[in-house]
Amino acid sequence: MSTGLEGIVAAETVLSHVDGERGELVLRGLRLEEAARLEFEEVTALLWQGFAPEADASDALAERLGQARLVAFAMAEPLLPAASRLTPVEGLRLLLSAIPDAEETPHHLMAVAAVPVFAAALGRIAAGDAPVPPDPALRTAEDFLAMLHDRTPSADHARALETYLITVADHGLNASTFAARVIASTRAGLFSSVVGALCALKGPLHGGAPGPVLDMLDEIGGEESIAGWIEGEIAAGRRLMGFGHRVYKVRDPRADVLRGVVRPLSSPRVAFAEKVEAAAIAALERAKPGRNLQTNVEFYTALALEAVGIPRPLFTPVFALGRMAGWTAHVLEQEQTGRLLRPLSRYTGPAVRVAAE
Ligand SMILES: CC(C)(COP(=O)(O)OP(=O)(O)OC[C@H]1O[C@@H](n2cnc3c(N)ncnc32)[C@H](O)[C@@H]1OP(=O)(O)O)[C@@H](O)C(=O)NCCC(=O)NCCS
Repeated sequence: MSTGLEGIVAAETVLSHVDGERGELVLRGLRLEEAARLEFEEVTALLWQGFAPEADASDALAERLGQARLVAFAMAEPLLPAASRLTPVEGLRLLLSAIPDAEETPHHLMAVAAVPVFAAALGRIAAGDAPVPPDPALRTAEDFLAMLHDRTPSADHARALETYLITVADHGLNASTFAARVIASTRAGLFSSVVGALCALKGPLHGGAPGPVLDMLDEIGGEESIAGWIEGEIAAGRRLMGFGHRVYKVRDPRADVLRGVVRPLSSPRVAFAEKVEAAAIAALERAKPGRNLQTNVEFYTALALEAVGIPRPLFTPVFALGRMAGWTAHVLEQEQTGRLLRPLSRYTGPAVRVAAE
């Protein structure tokens, strides 16, 4: 038994491979560094290939996603007052839950189309603005930014976000994907599976870290405080957000792809963040020698999302927007090839006794 399920293989998948020793992520035969040069719709199509007929042409897929975004917008409107009383990620959980299992649009398509619409509307409401409807002619990343900011994004920003979405599109049997596959294995349906996945993603040990990364940079404040702040956190037994990973024991390749994205965006944070990064890695090596605690995806995610103008409470919903490509592919794969997931537990409770009369 292993309490964190480390080292346990619980599924076979053709979708992605995380090589933690070599620091490599492969998406259906493509290294992340290559996949990151494609469009998000192409990567989604790649993941769906063999599981969904819509995967055959990514142009047609982009068009169908655009149409489905319109359906999602109409669906969200009556629920927005209730969703606006929640945080954006809770609002996203509510709106995704509200998509009926009887929805006519293929469910994997609807799920990928719905997240940018819901997340942008929730972001606008949180800022006191009215939601902006989708433009079905745009690609996912561009339309998300257009809906969120009510203006056409620069090509640089749209491409930076698109690269981010690809970077997080799939990542082996991470906690949220595992949750999705467990639910899919019961045949509860795709929407239930991805709502479960979103709930798992929401936790700070999984997808909730990039907001705290910026909080950390804010708290540190200036270069002169970096070393003292980091030592203080480690001495207090707290974890530095954006460092360490369950599987990668060398650098997380996604951190490097995203560093390449943020550097040209001339965000004032980047140079400072790189100094914090270097100091954190050195301090973690001193505190936990041999553990090789390195920068993970969340560190540069925080910088990339901030640079394209996404507010912190929307970070996890935007993560969900990219990861939805992977979740839906895993659900389709699980439904096609998987078996009901039903592990065992070891009982450590009291010995059997006769109940008092
Ligand atoms: C991601 C994470 C949960 C992986 O954890 P894990 O595989 O369970 O690693 P462990 O808890 O076994 O950590 C190994 C040791 O390093 C320490 N450690 C791990 N990440 C650390 C961090 N970010 N800061 C300080 N110490 C850390 C642990 O406290 C542990 O020390 P111990 O053995 O003395 O108790 C963990 O690294 C973490 O909490 N990171 C910060 C949150 C984060 O960035 N999450 C996003 C992940 S993509």
